[in-house]
Amino acid sequence: PSREPVDLLIGPAAQVATPRAAERPPAGPQQGRLEVIPGGAVAVRDGRIVAVGPYADLARRYDPAEVLDASGCTVVPGFVDPHTHLCFAGWRAEEFERRLAGASYQEILAAGGGILDTVRRTREASEVELAAALRRRLLEVLRLGTTTVEVKSGYGLTTADELKMLRAIRRAADPADDLDGTWPLGAGAWGPANGPRLRKNRPGATGSGGPGSGSDVDAGDGAGGARLAGGGTAGGGAAAGAGGAAATWAAAGTAHARPTAGTAPPRAAAGAAARAAVPAAGPVAAGPAADRAGGHGDLGSGLVLPEVVATFLGAHAVPPEYRGRPDEYVDRIVEEMLPAVAREGLAEYADVFCEQGVFDLEQTRRIVEAARRLGFRIRLHVDELTPLGGAGLAARVGAVSADHLLHVRDEDIPRLREAGTVATLLPGTAFFLREPYAPARKLIAAGVPVALATDYNPGSHPAGSMPLVMAIACVGMGMTPTEALVASTLGGAWALERAQRLGSLEPGKQADLVVIDAPSYQHLAYRLGTVPVVAVVKGGRVVV
Ligand code: NIG
Ligand code: FE
Repeated sequence: PSREPVDLLIGPAAQVATPRAAERPPAGPQQGRLEVIPGGAVAVRDGRIVAVGPYADLARRYDPAEVLDASGCTVVPGFVDPHTHLCFAGWRAEEFERRLAGASYQEILAAGGGILDTVRRTREASEVELAAALRRRLLEVLRLGTTTVEVKSGYGLTTADELKMLRAIRRAADPADDLDGTWPLGAGAWGPANGPRLRKNRPGATGSGGPGSGSDVDAGDGAGGARLAGGGTAGGGAAAGAGGAAATWAAAGTAHARPTAGTAPPRAAAGAAARAAVPAAGPVAAGPAADRAGGHGDLGSGLVLPEVVATFLGAHAVPPEYRGRPDEYVDRIVEEMLPAVAREGLAEYADVFCEQGVFDLEQTRRIVEAARRLGFRIRLHVDELTPLGGAGLAARVGAVSADHLLHVRDEDIPRLREAGTVATLLPGTAFFLREPYAPARKLIAAGVPVALATDYNPGSHPAGSMPLVMAIACVGMGMTPTEALVASTLGGAWALERAQRLGSLEPGKQADLVVIDAPSYQHLAYRLGTVPVVAVVKGGRVVV
C-alpha cells in the first residue's frame, strides 16, 4: 500500500509524552494524566499534527519529506506560558540585592521602586526599542521550548505609554515587522529557521547556510536544501547522521536533502534543508523584513516566533502622578485607557494587580466591569502577597484565570472550581521573593484546573524557563512531574483559551513541540531547569 505523504516525521523518540485534550481543562486526577508512547513519533503536514503513535506504525503509514531523528530523546508539547511581563526596559539587579539584605517587595514598591522603577525606564524607551528587546526575549523563551506566551503591558501607566507598550508587543510578535530597520540585531539567540549562528567569512569557507551562503540556495524546494547541504566541505556528517542522544536531521527518501553529507555544522545545514522542504505554517514573513529577519538571503521563510497573547495591565501599580489618589487613576483606566486599547484592538485580556497597597477588591471590580463591557476577557493577579480574597472576586466575575494564589483563602477554592477559572500558579515568583508557595495540592484535590507560568519580569521572577518552573512546582508545591508537564502545556493552553488548537500532541492540533535530550519527560522537572532542549518545532517548522 502506498504511504501517505507528510512534511515531517519526528521520531523515533525514546518517548512521546502528551496530555489528551477533553471538553474541560485537566483538573483533579486528569491533572496527573499523560499519554506516554515509548518509541513514539509525530507526523506533521501543513503545520498540523497528522498522527501520534509508535514510530514503527507511523513509518509504515507515512512518507515524510523530512525526518527529525529523536533517538534517545523525549518529545513533549511546546510549553504554553500564560503569564509574563516580558515587555519592559531595564533590569533590577540592585533591587534583588536589597531584597536579599532584608527589604520586602512591597516596601520597595511603596517607596517608589520596584515596578515603578521599571515604569520610569519603560516610559523613556521608544516603541521600537521596547519591541526589539521583547523580540529578543521571545526568541530566548522559544529556545527554552515555549511556543506560546502571554505578554502584559503595565509598565507605562499613562494612556500613551500603555498604548506604546501594547503596540510594541504587537510589533515584536509580527515576524514581518523589521522594527524600523533595527532588526536583526547581530548574532542572536535564534536557531536554524531564525537566522544561522555562523557566518561564512570568505567564499569557499565552511559555511552554515547562513548569511552569505544563502545566495547559493534557491528558495522553496528540496533541491535548494540539497545543494546547500551538499555544497560545503566534507566531514560534517558524523554528528548529523549518528542519530544519537541529540535530535538530528535525516532526510527521508531520495528526493530530499541529505544533511549527513552536508556542510558543518550539520544541524544548521540540516535546518536549512528542512526549511526548503517544509511548507511554512502560521504567519510567514514576506518581503524585505523577511529577508532581514531570516538572515540575509535566507530561504525566504522568515522569522518564527512564539505565538503572543496580549493583556492590558494598566492596573499594575498606582503611578507616581496619582500617588495617594488611586481611585482617580482607576477612573483614568476606566474612562480613557480601556476604551483606547479596545479601539485599537491591542489586547485580548485585561488584568489587575489586586493587592494590599495596590488595587483593592472594589477598585479591581470597577476595572473588571468596565473591561468586560468593552469585550475584554479577564485574568487577575490575586492573593499574591496578602489574603485579600481576590480569588473569590475572580470566580465571581468569571475570570478566565486567577494567578499567583499564594494566600488564596480556603473558602474561595471551590468557587474557582465552580466558575471554571484556571488557577495559574507562578512558583518561580514565590521562590524568588522567598514567599510561601501556593497550595497546589489543595487546588488539585478540589478539582481546580492548574496551569503553570513563569511570570518573567525584571522584579519578581527574571527568568523565562518553563522547565525551571516545573522543577520549583514539584519541589516547592509538591506537584508531580506529570502534573507539572500537564500544567505547562494543556493547562496553559486552557488558561489562554487555546486548548482546541494548542497544548497537546493530537491529530488536528498545531504542530508545536519540544524535543529534550532525556529518556523521559520526568527529566523536565527533575533536572532543575537544565534539561537540554535540542529541537523546537513551531507550526510544523523546526525553529531551534
Ligand atoms: O506578577 N505582581 C505584580 N506584578 C509582577 C511583578 C512585576 C514586577 O515586579 O516588575 C508579578 O509578580
Ligand atoms: Fe505577574
